[in-house]
Amino acid sequence: MALRKDFLWGGAVAAHQLEGGWNAGGKGPSVADVMTAGSNGVERRITDGILPGENYPNHEAIDFYHRYKEDVALFAELGLNCFRTSIAWTRIFPNGDEEEPNEEGLQFYDDLFDECLKNGIEPVITLSHFELPYHLVTEYGGFANRKLIGFFVKFAETVFKRYKNKVKYWMTFNEINNQANFLRDFAPFTNSGLKFPADATAYDREKLMYQAAHYELVASAQAVKIGHQINPDFQIGSMIAMCPIYPQSSRPTDIMAAQVAMQRRYWFSDVHTRGHYPAYLESYFERKAFNLDRTAQDLADLAEGCVDYIGFSYYMSFAIKDQKIRAKEEGPASGHGTNLPTYKDEELGAPTFDYIEDRDLVRNEFVPASEWGWQIDPLGLRYSLNWFSERYDNIPLMIVENGFGAVDEVEEDGSIHDQYRIDYLKAHIQAMEDAVTYDGVNLLGYTPWGFIDLVSAGTGEMKKRYGFIYVDKDNEGNGTLARSKKDSFAWYQKVIASNGADL
Ligand code: BG6
Repeated sequence: MALRKDFLWGGAVAAHQLEGGWNAGGKGPSVADVMTAGSNGVERRITDGILPGENYPNHEAIDFYHRYKEDVALFAELGLNCFRTSIAWTRIFPNGDEEEPNEEGLQFYDDLFDECLKNGIEPVITLSHFELPYHLVTEYGGFANRKLIGFFVKFAETVFKRYKNKVKYWMTFNEINNQANFLRDFAPFTNSGLKFPADATAYDREKLMYQAAHYELVASAQAVKIGHQINPDFQIGSMIAMCPIYPQSSRPTDIMAAQVAMQRRYWFSDVHTRGHYPAYLESYFERKAFNLDRTAQDLADLAEGCVDYIGFSYYMSFAIKDQKIRAKEEGPASGHGTNLPTYKDEELGAPTFDYIEDRDLVRNEFVPASEWGWQIDPLGLRYSLNWFSERYDNIPLMIVENGFGAVDEVEEDGSIHDQYRIDYLKAHIQAMEDAVTYDGVNLLGYTPWGFIDLVSAGTGEMKKRYGFIYVDKDNEGNGTLARSKKDSFAWYQKVIASNGADL
């Protein structure tokens, strides 16, 4: 088997990471607009609103909002037949709870999608990509509040109706499962708009995360159902951050720890895809006495709103070791590398193997890592494709993010020789093609992340670059914003032109 003839070769971005124009055209502030710039190893700070004197890198980003026509021309030159981006929720509903949408925001995406379609590029759209209206955080507590279901569904319905003849492929919540890392502030805030009180315990955080994720899954299911009524041809997918968790060794407790860790990170796709909660999670909820607000109607909605395909990101794999053994060797993991509250090691060992992301993951000595510590493992992509395919009965899959964040050097003549990026992508595309050829996975497309340089979500940096297209801007916001082509540009052009045969 080879890649399908209509394979979607694209590139992926998110509105908040490239558009800028954070308050243009009636747009309201989103959660991304209150996050400062961090750096490698330094988390971004979440401020109380937008404060003077702080550096908010998403406010200008790469100014795609004003430059999209030139950029789309470059995307066409690259040969893309699809473009994955998100619709910034706060361009459409600036506060999130308005009765009527903002026409100027709707018109912006009409113009952008028309420009893409004119150039033979199909938009692939994420509805919520770390862009929750900030007002929904301050007024409602984010997705901890059931009312957010209605606000999200209204937003989804509005854009489904408006773009029903321009967009076919949709995804509901970007990397919904990042918040499995509930001890840190970043993922619960970007996924769900959760801010925890200073005295919140690890238990409080975990419970709230599950509650918010439940409301999101119900919102997603309702949106899928409504979307199919609006246009039966819509393909509406989930979006999962896939970092497969390998056991560090064949020690049975490492294997068991890996299995439980996979459950804690990937139950989200079970619910999205099968329409009900898996038994392993029901028993976990019972043991923890979470008593979540899940109504009979919610469960019916989940069953009726299963996704059509699974979109997922893949950058790296993880590895895990039995934490009791780790604790014996290294001592208790105090604070798990953060100042946040946490569970005690003795609360979490066998037989439960309860998983704490920051504490339990270990370095995999068999794979190298990027400057940002992301472990580079192309075969892990083939493994992930098989994992989804086996688990969900050969469901269609789309790799909607993959890429190599690296520092690029600009030569005196302006050229950028990013062979390291080509090497990374080549190996991953090969692994993806092997999964189709040898394992029969049903793959719709591939959209490498940040194919035009943009603001890093995790650190807020510009210098962590993924692009084939260079953007002249540094971490402090200096630069002309001029675009130029890296070596990888011509390489990806030829990959697309040969439908993946010429790597
Ligand atoms: C994913 C997100 O987590 O990875 C993107 O969907 C993000 O928004 C990408 O940019 C790469 O992560 P980072 O932190 O290098 O930007």
